[in-house]
Amino acid sequence: MKIDVFTLFPEAFEWFEGQRHVRNAFGSGLGFACVNYRDTTPLTGGQVDDTPFGGGAGMVLRVDVVAAALEARYRVDPQHLPHRRRVLALTPGGRVLDDAFVDELAAEPELTVLCGRYEGFDERIIEHFASDAVSIGRYVLAGGELAAMVVCDAVIRKLPGALGHAESAWEESFSAALEGAPEYPHYTRPAEYRGWRVPEVLLSGHHANIKEWRLEQSRARANQGPQP
Ligand SMILES: C[S@@+](CC[C@H](N)C(=O)[O-])C[C@H]1O[C@@H](n2cnc3c(N)ncnc32)[C@H](O)[C@@H]1O
Repeated sequence: MKIDVFTLFPEAFEWFEGQRHVRNAFGSGLGFACVNYRDTTPLTGGQVDDTPFGGGAGMVLRVDVVAAALEARYRVDPQHLPHRRRVLALTPGGRVLDDAFVDELAAEPELTVLCGRYEGFDERIIEHFASDAVSIGRYVLAGGELAAMVVCDAVIRKLPGALGHAESAWEESFSAALEGAPEYPHYTRPAEYRGWRVPEVLLSGHHANIKEWRLEQSRARANQGPQP
């Protein structure tokens, strides 16, 4: 998979690119690049945003600036891009990311992720250059960089070779292996701490019983709803 992230703050991704699962994925063929909108802005003085028509607070990321960045990168009219690759515009009001959506994205050969800043995108960017408007939750961050890292992290850990143990991603919260339920509880040593004892079944060495207990726990969590 090749991922391009368009941002005004490419340096924000240095930490992310150094994470072990991301480096593992690089070793298995992942391409990851950050593109700065400011590098190709057609405006003077590195300008990328402007005041909103109709008034109001804040600045809006300009459509001509994003178009120039996309065109410089892909050498096509950005209007045609969503027919060729998945282009995600990050915005709080978009389709909320969940495990099924992540699976869908992880199956793509190429992803483009557009980070907004300030008041967000000129709406024509979302309408004409993006295939999806994506939200990581119903709250507002200052910029799209953290949201992009959330999306990329969730997608990359689904790629072959990203995790040390392939099973780690196979049987996780919301996976088909757990019938879409939250994952069961985990415990490690010590087996007893302050009188809090690990469930006996996990110490039994009986794999079939452990598997059954774990599935029951997952189902119970699904029925309980979100944990406090
Ligand atoms: C301050 S926010 C803009 C919020 C916008 N004025 C609104 O009320 O919906 C700036 C940028 O951060 C990113 N962002 C903030 N919260 C987000 C979220 N929950 N999901 C995805 N992106 C988000 C988007 O790229 C957005 O354009």
